[in-house]
Amino acid sequence: MKKLCVFASGAGSNAENLIRYFQKNKTAEVTLIVTNRADAGVNEVARKLGVEVFYCNRDYFSNPAGLTSLLTQKGIDLVILAGFLWLLPACLIQAYPNKIINIHPSLLPKYGGKGMFGEHVHKAVIAAGEKESGITIHYVNERYDQGSILLQARCPVEPGETLLSLSRKVLMLEHRFFPPLVESLVV
Ligand code: GRF
Repeated sequence: MKKLCVFASGAGSNAENLIRYFQKNKTAEVTLIVTNRADAGVNEVARKLGVEVFYCNRDYFSNPAGLTSLLTQKGIDLVILAGFLWLLPACLIQAYPNKIINIHPSLLPKYGGKGMFGEHVHKAVIAAGEKESGITIHYVNERYDQGSILLQARCPVEPGETLLSLSRKVLMLEHRFFPPLVESLVV
């Protein structure tokens, strides 16, 4: 069975959704969560669902040999970034060619890049008067949000759309499309 590692620093709803999906569909399993925030919601998600968490501080992170050997030692087949805000070191990316993916809450290349995460994305989309938004799942390369695209899914931005309503819609798309896409990469 293929082993997945999720990197997350936020609430962890995608991590939870992936863990639960693969607990039901035994095509792969989420073996490890890596986080750089000991107080992030994802820690509680992992504890509740019985998945190991590895806490990674800046020092550990900036020594890519450490992370690479952790992932190798755990036998990880695919690395999934779900709300992880640090740019991965080049040598980690090179060690896992086409084996690291990210989910982003906009239709890239729009509203991507450094500093474009969470509410910042949805605020910018609403402020620009966009008629649609959505999600992008893409391979990770050495630049923020620029790897080749695997999947995009769209939702309308209605008149009167709020930050909250748009983030909910986009998160629903993430929860619906992310697990099957991950599964398609590992089976
Ligand atoms: C998601 O919107 C994802 O697109 C972005 O970070 C958010 C993570 O949310 N990269 P959660 O922590 O999975 O709830």
